[in-house]
Parts: sequence; structure tokens; C-alpha cells
Amino acid sequence: MSVQHETPAANPAGRVPGDRHATGYDDATRERLAADAAQIMARYPQERSALLPMLHLVQAEDGYVSPRGIAFCAGQLSLTTAEVSAVATFYTQYKRHPNGTYTVGVCTNTLCAVMGGDAIWEDLTEHLGVDHDETTADGAITLERIECNAACDYAPVVMVNWEFFDDQTPESARDVVDRLREGVPVAPSRGAASVCTFKQMSRVLAGFPDGRADEGVGAGPATLRGTLLAKEKGWRAPDLPDAEHAGDQPAEPDRPADPARPAAPTPPADRSEPGDVTPTTDAGPTPAGQQPGADPKVGAEESSADRPATTPSDTSAESQRRRQRTDDAKES
Ligand code: FES
Repeated sequence: MSVQHETPAANPAGRVPGDRHATGYDDATRERLAADAAQIMARYPQERSALLPMLHLVQAEDGYVSPRGIAFCAGQLSLTTAEVSAVATFYTQYKRHPNGTYTVGVCTNTLCAVMGGDAIWEDLTEHLGVDHDETTADGAITLERIECNAACDYAPVVMVNWEFFDDQTPESARDVVDRLREGVPVAPSRGAASVCTFKQMSRVLAGFPDGRADEGVGAGPATLRGTLLAKEKGWRAPDLPDAEHAGDQPAEPDRPADPARPAAPTPPADRSEPGDVTPTTDAGPTPAGQQPGADPKVGAEESSADRPATTPSDTSAESQRRRQRTDDAKES
């Protein structure tokens, strides 16, 4: 099965000839974008504060921060094009040349790297024939090395348009990109049930929800392991200082928890010390949407936790042993 990707074929440098000479949007497009921009600007006390979502808005239109997009933002926000460019070139989420339909990000930060992220990166660059921030000739995939995405408990992680694909291997990551190129749906490991396009994702980042933010679960069993352990052992975080006295007391140095230390009588809320371990039935902060005292929610019915995987994870015995060793090391 073949698929028509949104981005026109780019030359090896990733640029579409002539795009730097694009002069603007047609009237209908400009009017539509201006209506969206007005909604975005209305969210801020100062209009210029709307620049970041506005840049996502033009990415949703053009697939990158185009020269005409920069001119549009500058005109709407009473900024110079130089000021808009200075912001757009600072953040890696803003693309300076046409992006593929899917941004595939391979985490090669420390933990993912040692758990296999470097091997995935090597394999995908060879398989796709592109390097960092380059797009495949069919316009389907822009490949990126990415920094930690706070999903280290599922390392090594691959992101597709910022959706998580956990516990990847070179083989499973290659399978994901092959499916994307062929137009075969893929399901992230957590969160939304499917992957949208780069332009659709950019519109969400501009502040126009697609209604899928609450699909599935964000935290799976590995993420909740610490919470469950704390609940099991009766650990809890120290109380916050009483608001009335907050700031009256000098900060106390952090002290490692000492479970052998006899529990002191329960102190007043504003006297608690960092590191105190007070047996309690309260497992600490309650995740959003969870009733206090209830078991942490690992995944409701029909959530992504129950969804059959469409792309394989590394479930080999060696992987399980490696993961167990890592978990043991974290807990010791
Ligand atoms: S190091 Fe890859 S998600 Fe943290």
C-alpha cells in the first residue's frame, strides 16, 4: 500500500526550491490564519506573548516555519521578522525547512543510549538513508536525535510526533518507520491510540485541541512502581509548611531517610523535616483523576495499557533480565 505524504519531495538539503521566495498566503488562507491568531492572542495579556503558539500555527499550515509564516507572525504581533526569526531558530521544535509527515525522534540521552538507543539510531539512519534533521525522499519521515523525554522508565524510547513508543529495539523501530511510510496505522505504547501528522500535531501545540489528550494513560506500571512501593511501605512525602509560617524558617539541609530512626510523635504540619519517614496509610500525592487511597490507576478498560500492541517491544528473556537488573539497582 502506498501513501501520499504531505510534504513535497525535498532535495538532499531538505529544502524545496524557491520556498525562500514565497511571498505570502492567499486571501482565504490569510483570513483563516488571522482568525486562529486572534484566538491565540486573546489568551495573553500582551499579544507578543502569543509568538510560540503562533509559530506552531504556521507550522500546522506550511509544515515548517516558512518565510511567509514568519512574516505573518511579525505582522500580527507587531514584531520585526528578525525578532520572530530569533525565537523560531532558538527552539528545536520549530523547523526551518519542510518537515516530513512524521518526526521520528530517537532518544540517545544517557539512559536510553545505554539501553539500546544508540543502536536504534545507527540502524535507523542506515535503514532510512538520512541523518539528524533530514527527511526521507518520499517526505514521510524526518529523523531526529532527541534528548530525554522523561520516559527513561521505558528506555529506549522512540517518539513519533511526540507520541511514545516504549522499550524499542532496532527491529521494532524499523517496523514502525516502515509502517508509517506505507500508510499502515501504528499505535503508540501509551497515550493516544494513533499517531497524527506533523501538521495536525502542530495545530494541537498551537492550542487547538484535537480531543485526544485524555486517550489512554500516560503512566504505565513502570512509571507507577515507585508510587506502589511507597504505598506498600507506608512512605509519604513530608507535609508542606503551614502557609502562614512559610518563609519564616530557614531552609533545613536535606537529610537521607533513616528507616531505623524511631518515628517521632506526629509533628505539627509546619515542623516536619525533609527525610522524615512517618508510617501512614496515605501513599502521598494522588495522581490526577484518582480517588485518595485508591490503587494507582494503571489503565482503565479500553485504555492504552490494555490495547494490544501493533508494534513489537523487546520482550526477550535477556531484555527482561536487563530490565530487572536496572530496577533492582534503582531500588537498592
Ligand atoms: S534518557 Fe531517554 S527518555 Fe530519558
